[in-house]
Amino acid sequence: MDTTHTPHPHTSPRQTIPPGPTGRLWGLNHLRTMRANYLGFVGRLQSQHPDIAHVQVLNEHIVHVFHPEWVREVLVDQSDALIRWERATEIFSVVMGQSVLVTEGTSWQRQRRMLQPGFTPKRVTGYAALMTSAVQDALVDLAQRPEEQSVNMDALMTTMTLDVILRALFGSHQVRDARPIAEANQTLSHSGIDEMFKPFSWPQWMPLPSVRKVRQAKQTLDRVIQQHIQARSAAQQQESEDLLTMLQQARDPEHPEQGLSAQELHDQTMVMFQAGHETTATAMTWWSGLIARHPEVAERIHAEVDAVLQGKTPTPDTLQQLPWLQASLKEAMRLYPPAAVLMTRRTIKDVKVGSWTLSKGQLIAFTPYVIQRDPRWFESPDEFKPERFLPGAPDVPRGAWMPFGTGPRVCIGQHFAMLEMGLIAAMLMQRFRLVWPEDATWPELNLGLTLRPHHPIRLNFVLR
Ligand code: HEM
Repeated sequence: MDTTHTPHPHTSPRQTIPPGPTGRLWGLNHLRTMRANYLGFVGRLQSQHPDIAHVQVLNEHIVHVFHPEWVREVLVDQSDALIRWERATEIFSVVMGQSVLVTEGTSWQRQRRMLQPGFTPKRVTGYAALMTSAVQDALVDLAQRPEEQSVNMDALMTTMTLDVILRALFGSHQVRDARPIAEANQTLSHSGIDEMFKPFSWPQWMPLPSVRKVRQAKQTLDRVIQQHIQARSAAQQQESEDLLTMLQQARDPEHPEQGLSAQELHDQTMVMFQAGHETTATAMTWWSGLIARHPEVAERIHAEVDAVLQGKTPTPDTLQQLPWLQASLKEAMRLYPPAAVLMTRRTIKDVKVGSWTLSKGQLIAFTPYVIQRDPRWFESPDEFKPERFLPGAPDVPRGAWMPFGTGPRVCIGQHFAMLEMGLIAAMLMQRFRLVWPEDATWPELNLGLTLRPHHPIRLNFVLR
């Protein structure tokens, strides 16, 4: 693998508009193609312009950055010249209020400083016991099913990760039926991506069926969060190890007398809840399908899980001794990054990218799904090969694997997610063989705010 490739040499004078396709009808033809198949559009763009490309739609200049060095040059080195794309922020804020995912500038810095201590690699190990208890309960239910009945992996992983995030947030929870929550999430995910291609959203009070659906979905989630926060205040529990306790105790190191207001607590809880389970469920659904399609990889994972865990529940320490399992999770997120397209930024100052200077006011898009399938960094990029991520394998260039983003706004929950996924995967592989049904076909992509399979992945579970 050639990791030394440097993009085009600097030319002088610096240029401002990178190459790209010319649009018809002020670029509305691009908009139509993007709406029909966004990932296909960006993939074609990258094959014509491997490092950087410019697309104009009406008066919007969108620059796609594909080269990993340039991704980092922008997101890491010049993060203070960027804000999130306002349209995405507007859409996210409908559900997530003024939370850390949405705010900018000093407000974002204050929130991130307050939340960060709850998500360090060391701190997240404290949530492991809550996570494994949730997985354990789901596996007991699974073991009681008739073997010939196939399992809908999307539904299983959604239920499991929902249970995990609710326990991690609240210690225990009172949600008996997770389906309304999962449906509310799906509604918000699909309306979210749809809205991104429209110039504005209808206000929440409009009596339109689509607006009503979104309003109801939001109310369902608000109710869940509110019930749990109220139950916590009534019980006066302060000693728990969960995320809500962390949020309640969070203090700004620069103003230690300040905690989160009631509204902020609600919004941050909502963002953890929302960002914290659909992404993980999606990653685990694709992973399980890939494992079932690659029995030779599954065998390696079974072998190391059996040898290291010897029937015991995995812990953050024992997970570190399972290289094939960890590599398979990374490889699944390379092929199917849950947040496949979401990193779009507006420049608030001029930004330098390689030999280009992008002026203030442009949009920059980063598409992990496309960046992570670039044959320059990943040989046979469409194949599932966990060995790329094994210790001792050639280094993947920094910025070429970025399912959690990079730079100061990198996913705050990345260590939490890797721990959770490792525990779920290890516990599943301890007890079951995941078998790909003979008549099943590999699903097409379904791009919402997360990248899901178009039809459910169903697997046969065989008790080991
Ligand atoms: C496989 C699971 C996950 C994936 C793939 C994922 C991916 C991402 C990505 C791509 C971003 C945006 C980065 C950017 O804009 O540059 C992000 C942000 C964020 N994620 Fe995650 N995430 C996952 C799990 C989680 C979990 C478990 C939590 C919390 C419990 C979480 C909380 C957040 C928050 C709060 C942000 C906003 C951070 C900020 O703007 O400062 N995520 N995530």
